[in-house]
This record gives sequence, C-alpha cells and structure tokens, in this order.
Amino acid sequence: MNILVTGVAGFIGSHVAERLVAAGHVVYGIDNFDPYYDREIKDRNIAALQDQTGFRFYEADLLDPRALANVIGTAAEAGRSIDAVIHLAAKAGVRPSIEDPHAYTRVNVEGTVNLLEAMNAGNVRDLIFASSSSVYGNTAEVPFREDAWVDHPISPYAATKKAGELLTHTYSHIHGMRVAALRFFTVYGPRQRPDLAIAKFTRLISRDQPIPVYGDGTTRRDYTYIDDILSGILGALEWIVTQDAGSWQVFNLGESRTVALGELIEILERTLGMRARLDRQPEQPGDVKQTWADTSRAAETFGYKPSTPIEEGIRHYVQWFRQQKQQETE
Ligand SMILES: NC(=O)c1ccc[n+]([C@@H]2O[C@H](COP(=O)([O-])OP(=O)(O)OC[C@H]3O[C@@H](n4cnc5c(N)ncnc54)[C@H](O)[C@@H]3O)[C@@H](O)[C@H]2O)c1
Repeated sequence: MNILVTGVAGFIGSHVAERLVAAGHVVYGIDNFDPYYDREIKDRNIAALQDQTGFRFYEADLLDPRALANVIGTAAEAGRSIDAVIHLAAKAGVRPSIEDPHAYTRVNVEGTVNLLEAMNAGNVRDLIFASSSSVYGNTAEVPFREDAWVDHPISPYAATKKAGELLTHTYSHIHGMRVAALRFFTVYGPRQRPDLAIAKFTRLISRDQPIPVYGDGTTRRDYTYIDDILSGILGALEWIVTQDAGSWQVFNLGESRTVALGELIEILERTLGMRARLDRQPEQPGDVKQTWADTSRAAETFGYKPSTPIEEGIRHYVQWFRQQKQQETE
C-alpha cells in the first residue's frame, strides 16, 4: 500500500513508518518539525528512514492545505495514489494546551479538517486517526470502555482530540470514508517524547537530579509499550480497509494494566539501580486521576493483544536510553 503518515518525525510516527516500510509498504511522511521539542531529536528519529527507497519525506504543515494537496497529488502523479492515511501529527501534551489553547485548536482541529479535505479531494478514503485516552476525563468508570460518555474533557488537548474524532465521523458519514479512531493510552518506549514522565524521569534520575512529582503519587496510568501500539495501528489499518464505505469506529489501545505514579518511580529506580529524588508539586490542572483501558473491542475486532508488562518495557527503554548516551559521548 501507499500510506501517508502525518507527524512522521515524531515518536510514534517514526516507529509506524519504519514498521510499514519494513513490511514493503511505501510511506509518504509529512512533518513540520513543530518546536514543542527539539528538531534535532526528530531528525534523528527519521535518519535511518531517509535512506530507504520506500520512504519519502515532505516538510509540510497541516495548516497549509496546498502542501497537503501537493503531497497527495505528487503520489498520484508518480502512479502511487495514497491508499490510506495514518494521522498522528498533532500538538501533543496536556499541560501546555492550557497555556496555548489557540495553537492546539488550530493544529489539532483545523489541521485535521485540512487533512480530511485534502483526502476527499484526492479520493483517499481510509484513515487511522490518533485519539487519546484523555478524552475520558475524570468522569468515566474504569476500565474505560469506548461506549462510555466522553463529553467532559478536562483539558483543551483532550477537547481537540474529541473534536477530531467527531470530525472524522462527519467525513465518514458524508464522504464514505472508512475511519478507525484509536485512543492511545500513554505510549512509551525508545524515542518517547522527552516531556513524558518515563523519558523525563529516566533522564533526571540518571543525572541524580530531582524529579517533579505532581500530586501524592496515587494518580494512575495505563502505560502502553510502543510495539503493542504498533500492532494495534497496523491491525486497525488491515481491518478498516476491508470495511464498507462510511464505516467509523473508535478503539482503545492500552495495556489494560494501571500503574500508580509511585509504583512507576520504583520500577525506574530498580531498573536504573539508582534512587530518585522527589520534588513534590501540587496536582496539575488538566491531569486526569487515572486511565485504564478496556481493550476487548480491539481484541475482538482485529485481534489486538498487548503483551509487554511495564517492567519489561521499562527495561527496553532504559537499555535504549543508555545506548543513546553512549553514542553521544563517542
Ligand atoms: N505519546 C502518547 O502517549 C500519546 C497518547 C495519546 C495520543 N497520542 C497522540 O499520538 C500522536 C503522536 O504522538 P507522539 O507522542 O508521537 O507525539 P510527537 O510530538 O512525538 O509527534 C507528533 C509529530 O507531529 C508533528 N506536528 C505537529 N504539528 C504539526 C503540523 N502543524 N503539521 C505537521 N506536523 C506537525 C510534530 O512535529 C511531531 O513530530 C499525536 O496525535 C498524539 O496526540 C500520543
């Protein structure tokens, strides 16, 4: 297949592209190198891909409709019409969305509409949309099920992700697009975004610097290892292309195990062989109290079966982290 991946230079996008290219697909990847974190990290994420014949990279912004049309048109002219889109580009992060709600709304909502319009104009019908567990807010019962009422997001980021789900539904209804909206639960692994807890804590603990701990350590997250997310994304893609025009469905992709923040810190301490110094901070607005995925819908529909316990995933992460550090000093 010829697959357009948005946000390809990011954490999840670069892994998705590698997996697709290795499986023989052709990936058209776009990214605008949003300054949320260093471009250098994103350049590194796609460095190995840039040499692959199945990978083409376009520096393009979701907010530039002509650039999106250009990528889809270029693929078609080359006889490689885009078959499906995996839409991962977004302004991510809960707390910064409170500081800059306009930017989040522009990229995550208007940018998504731009992409949907470009898909429709280019006759591209299949879409995987990256949503988030944050849409569940603090009101849904755990474990979260996709049919829970999710009309009470508690951060602008969560509200934009819910809006994205709704917009993809609208385009599916009007234009017959086939859409799987995937609610990712805190994804981690090599190349994890540097602002997320596991990456940040690993970096700080290994330098013997204090880690900021928001609240009393009892907030809980369902942490999902990148390999499990990848099998979920690819499973959803293989399934959605077999569905009738106008199909739309939402799926949780989590590990189905919930880990308290305090427990996560202990696992990191054991794996790194170092004690963490805690810098206690008040709870942050926008942070939900807990996340926990019921993944039975994804399991029944496309055989999703996450298999990486947090202890094992953290071991892989720390191993990768140490290799990176080693390479930097060489
Ligand atoms: N990582 C997680 O735990 C998690 C959890 C739930 C949902 N998600 C969603 O998954 C997706 C990928 O997340 P990630 O962790 O890989 O984040 P990331 O920030 O590493 O990747 C997102 C990429 O999108 C790009 N981007 C941002 N704005 C853009 C624009 N206007 N035009 C083009 N590209 C743009 C960024 O430069 C970045 O490379 C996002 O949609 C995010 O909301 C992630």
